Amino acid sequence: MSKKILVIGSSNTDMTIKSPRLPAPGETILGGTFVMGPGGKGANQAVAASRLGGDVTFICKVGRDMFGENAVKGYQKEGIDTSHTLYSDQASGTALILVDDSGENCIAVAPGANGDLSPADIDSVADVIKKADYLILQLEIPVESVLRAAKIAHEAGVYVILNPAPACKLPEEIFKYISLITPNQTESALMTGIEVKDEASRTKAIESFHKMGVKDVIVTLGSKGSLVCQGNEQIMVEALKVKAVDATAAGDTFCGAVCVALSEGKTLEEAARFATKASALTVQKMGAQSSIPYITDIK
Ligand code: RIB
Repeated sequence: MSKKILVIGSSNTDMTIKSPRLPAPGETILGGTFVMGPGGKGANQAVAASRLGGDVTFICKVGRDMFGENAVKGYQKEGIDTSHTLYSDQASGTALILVDDSGENCIAVAPGANGDLSPADIDSVADVIKKADYLILQLEIPVESVLRAAKIAHEAGVYVILNPAPACKLPEEIFKYISLITPNQTESALMTGIEVKDEASRTKAIESFHKMGVKDVIVTLGSKGSLVCQGNEQIMVEALKVKAVDATAAGDTFCGAVCVALSEGKTLEEAARFATKASALTVQKMGAQSSIPYITDIK
């Protein structure tokens, strides 16, 4: 029987403009193209896990508006279980994204209903959390809610994956509930207080996560790849050389893919290698969910 993957997190509508370069503060740039589509780190990770073969339930909070309604319909079409969707009187989450010619982006998110997903909401879905095999969390919903979900899951023996994005300072307590954390170098520095600039400082940061109680760590290094750390072992997984069009949702694809591979019994290193292929496909297309590959694309 396939393992149950539960994703709790944000659902956004992304409005993306691709332009030759990112504007400086106060500057207006002409000559871009516009696309609108579903996004949000939680939703992207749920969609990635589902397209790559996972049995996925997604819990998010959306507004009672057209954006929220369309988003949930979209998740259902992906084969994701949305029966525990929560509703808010706030507007559904929205993200404004700018992408330059090299695929680099900058993003501003108006959380709206995502910011309304409370610890009490988490308590209302505690039974669903306890029945999952894997729980994936990110930081686009309130930190107290992420903490509550991680605690419930950990106490029920669920493997908890935290993608600590967007970066923010976390309460010390949360780390002992996390089985796998997947920070990039900036997030890693913010959480451990250790600036990651070379191999030695990276090792120190990883040791610091282990000391805080996290079992497994994958530090993502952008176009360089990722560093997989299980116990004392560190393995560098090189990125694939591709031409990036838009990096949006590459990290989300990576997380969803790692979880699916682990749920199929792969090792952490094998999971990272599989996720590297998936995210290399994501960066070659525009948009968030529009760029996330299916398992057939990888094969
Ligand atoms: O990680 C990419 C996502 O970040 C986008 O889809 C956007 O909605 C923001 O949440």
